[in-house]
Amino acid sequence: MSLFEEKNDVVNLINETVAREQVIVAGWVRTKRVAKSFSFIELNDGSCLANIQIIVDKETAGAEILNEIQTGAAVHVIGDLIKSLGKGQVWEIHASKLTLIGRCEDSYPLQKKRHSDEFLREIAHLRPRTNKYSAIARIRSRLSFAIHTFFQGEGFHLINTPIITGSDCEGAGEMFQVTTLDPKNTDNDYSSDFFGKKAHLTVSGQLALETYCMALNKVYTFGPTFRSENSNTTRHMAEFWMVEPEMAFANIFDDMNVAEKFVKSIVSTIKTQSAADLNLFAQHVDQGLLERLDNIIESDFIRITYSEAIEILSASNQEFAFKPDWGKDLQSEHERYLTEAHFKKPVFVYDWPIDIKAFYMRRNDDAKTVAAMDLLVPGIGELIGGSAREERLDLLLASMTDKGFSQEDYWWYLDTRKNGSVPHAGFGLGFERLIMLVTGVSNIRDVIPFPRTPKNLEF
Ligand code: 4AD
Ligand code: MG
Repeated sequence: MSLFEEKNDVVNLINETVAREQVIVAGWVRTKRVAKSFSFIELNDGSCLANIQIIVDKETAGAEILNEIQTGAAVHVIGDLIKSLGKGQVWEIHASKLTLIGRCEDSYPLQKKRHSDEFLREIAHLRPRTNKYSAIARIRSRLSFAIHTFFQGEGFHLINTPIITGSDCEGAGEMFQVTTLDPKNTDNDYSSDFFGKKAHLTVSGQLALETYCMALNKVYTFGPTFRSENSNTTRHMAEFWMVEPEMAFANIFDDMNVAEKFVKSIVSTIKTQSAADLNLFAQHVDQGLLERLDNIIESDFIRITYSEAIEILSASNQEFAFKPDWGKDLQSEHERYLTEAHFKKPVFVYDWPIDIKAFYMRRNDDAKTVAAMDLLVPGIGELIGGSAREERLDLLLASMTDKGFSQEDYWWYLDTRKNGSVPHAGFGLGFERLIMLVTGVSNIRDVIPFPRTPKNLEF
């Protein structure tokens, strides 16, 4: 058997009910304590937050290399799994054989216990070897699986929408261009470019997803999206992941119902499946975390129209840097007032002014608003943005003209409105913002392995 095949995951060993002889583990040394008769190694193999304690004594084959084993080194251990006499762990391994697999240099930066998030961001290739960042990575992985489980369980089909696209979904002019042309001689002529036309990285899979919605009924896409908005905030990145469901025969209220059920379901799943990792954040990052998650799982989300939101904000005694004003987008301070101070729970704001929303959103009968919704959550602000889609060809054409979209470029999108068009709705949830919500981590750069932000592309 290979080492890979014969080794045990520590997550399984710490849950054993009986002692075992001759177990094998392999991982990275977190700390080492050398004493006269016994030495201790805290080993982490990434399968869980917990380390396993290794006891090395004079009988252990390879004990003589102990002084070469530094924090951060990779080792392989064979030994007996026995009840621990020490505090803090049930099991430990009494090593019969210790092998050094990969040395670690003296300059290894994680020998020191505490580092700032800012410093760790500069060594993003090493930060998953800390408790906090390995826990974030495991939670991220679990959440991703929970998202698929939820939608698959509700009868949605996964559609892989394209990353390279010829169309702008949000129309916010925040697209990265994809080109093989020499940047010096474009002259806005893309006929000799790779695709023979201007191409971009997608800002959202929605438009492509809608075409599949008109065939498969309930669909979702979950992938990376790219936005060149030059904002250096703790909630925006140039590359982030988005989950987008799209539902045929659904209206804006169905949209909010699915979004609420979805958020509650994945938060509750992660609370049980990642309890040990989440506890780390509840203890060290955000004391109110578990209570906040329960609040999300148990409370009915508030639903107010944009106009009601403006009334509440205007009537409040809060000093806002930006005065709430009907027709203008909500600022993050407004979002946070509504969800953190006023309602103290998640809030859907729906029926937004036409002029500040995307071309595809369904026009309401008042001719002033569209059936769009944002979900605002405590600590984050906007978590979800979605809408009913304009399924009526004449109104969609009017909206495209108003917002300067060319009918020629979107012929395929318009074609779906000419052939079997039905009311439909969907939304997009920012995956990193969800991880921030679930962990209490306050900077979005810390919940994705390699963050991409303005002037920052180290790895
Ligand atoms: O509100 P947005 O722009 O909606 C759309 O793109 C729709 N086409 C989605 C749909 O209806 N299918 O983005 C959706 C969510 C936001 O609510 C936010 O959580 C997240 O994506 N998001 C970002 N996350 C990180 N960095 C950024 N720059 C983000 N921009 C949006
Ligand atoms: Mg939005």
